[in-house]
This record gives sequence, C-alpha cells and structure tokens, in this order.
Amino acid sequence: MKIKQAGLILVALLLGVLFIASSSIAGTPKDGKYYFDTLKESMLEVLAENQALINVKPDGSIKSKKLLPKSYYKKTYEQFKKIGVGKKFKLKALKGETDPQVIAPILTTLLQAGRITTAKFQKAINSEADGTVKLKKFIPAVFGQLTVDRFHKKTGIQMKQTTLGKNDYKERNKYNAPNKWEEKGLHAVTAKNWQTNAGYSEKTAAEYRYMKPIYIKKGCLGCHGVPIGEKGPYGHPKEGYELNDIRGGISISLPIQ
Ligand code: HEC
Repeated sequence: MKIKQAGLILVALLLGVLFIASSSIAGTPKDGKYYFDTLKESMLEVLAENQALINVKPDGSIKSKKLLPKSYYKKTYEQFKKIGVGKKFKLKALKGETDPQVIAPILTTLLQAGRITTAKFQKAINSEADGTVKLKKFIPAVFGQLTVDRFHKKTGIQMKQTTLGKNDYKERNKYNAPNKWEEKGLHAVTAKNWQTNAGYSEKTAAEYRYMKPIYIKKGCLGCHGVPIGEKGPYGHPKEGYELNDIRGGISISLPIQ
C-alpha cells in the first residue's frame, strides 16, 4: 500500500512540474524558428492537399517527382536562399530570435520563394500525362493565398499578397487590394531611389508591419507581361509588366511581444 501511495505522490509531483513547465512555455514569445517552421508546414500541407489536382495521373500514379511536397519545398528553399537572404543564412540563427525586424523579411521571402517556384512549375503542373494541357489554377497567387490562410489559422498572423497595379489595371482580385498602410508601403518600395529588395516597415503600439516588394521574374510574364490588355491564360488582361518591375508586395503584421 505504502509503495502505491508514494507512487501516486510522485506522479502528482511530476504532473505539477510538467504543468508549470508547459505554462511557462506558453507564456514565452514565439521565435523566428517557430514562425519559419509553421510557414513551411503550411506550404507542405497545401502541396499535399493539392497533389490530386497537380500531380496525379488518371491511373493514380504521380506525374512528376518534383511536384511532390518535399521536393517542391526543397526547390522553394533553394530559391529562398537565392532571393535576398544570402548563402550564409542559417536556419539555426532563427532559434530564440524574437525581433520582428529580423523575422518579417524572412517569412515574406520564404512565401515569395514558394510563389516563384510555383510560377516555374506551371508547365509541369498543367501538363497531363498524354501531353495535353489542362489549366489547374494552381498559380503563384493561389498557392500563396492557401498558404497564408493556413499560416494565419495556426499563428494568428496575417500575411497578404497585394499590389498597386499598373497601366489602369488594379489588383485582379479585390481580396488583394491594399489597405491604407499597405498602399503607403507599396508607394515607398516603388519609389525611384528605393533600394532593390529593401522592405518598408512601420510600427504601431501593437504591431510591426512590413512590406516586401515582389518582382516580376521570367515565369510571371506570360500572365502579367505584354502586350498590355492581351488576355492571359486565365482570361485576365495582362498589366504590361516588364522583367524586374515591382509587381506588388507581400505584407505581414507581427505582434509586438
Ligand atoms: C498562369 C498565370 C499567372 C502566372 C504565371 C503568375 N500570375 Fe500572378 N496572378 C494571376 C492571376 C489569375 C491572379 C489573380 C488571382 C486571384 O484571383 O486571386 C494573379 C494575382 C497576382 C497577385 C495578387 C494581386 C492581384 O492582382 O490580385 C500578385 C502580387 C501576382 N499575381 C504576382 C505574380 C508574380 C510576381 C508572378 C511570378 C512569380 C506571377 N504573379 C505569376 C496569374 C498568374
């Protein structure tokens, strides 16, 4: 009997210690590693959920290994290193990092890298096993939106793809229309003397807001390029962007912890 009681007390003590430990974890601010991993996880989930749409042949086998979530993400991560964070970037450095000024550029760059990969993969995504083409609407903006929706559900943090438009053409989807601060941010990053890749940021009492400019790459031109007004594959008029133009931005609002 005595041994059993001692055992029970020990279990109670252990539970107590666990409870205190977990509540102090919940109270600590989320770090860059947590946000990075959660954005990555959101992408992988979106890719896994859309395999039937983008990567499965009628007989159930896969079309291309590169469209599998893990390899798709690998390409995204390579792209991420290429477009602004530099070769020396180490994921480990995000551990314990809570400064939104550090975190915001990383997260927006990762999303942008996923969008660029999605633009590059359009041919693979839309090609059928028999060589025909069937548009899947799994385009950068859609991949990005699905990802940020998921990320928002998991973290409460809002990321958005937005634009000022060009040549009489505003955003294609009302959902992407900039709000007041986003408009200010987009004007800032499109100003003539603005440094390439530099983001715009501002702070309120509650949040740190950041706008990362996104540029037109080769893969974007078929839908957003010239001739102005010509219909792209999804029926939207092309806005007339040229290579390396700023197409818009990715905004993020991080809570000040
Ligand atoms: C296959 C065609 C296609 C390609 C390729 C493409 N886009 Fe788009 N893009 C669209 C469509 C269609 C929308 C509207 C999506 C929606 O309805 O949400 C859009 C929306 C956007 C938006 C959101 C703002 C808005 O107008 O609603 C941004 C920003 C954007 N695209 C940038 C890019 C960039 C940068 C690239 C290249 C990396 C790219 N797009 C490649 C078709 C494309």
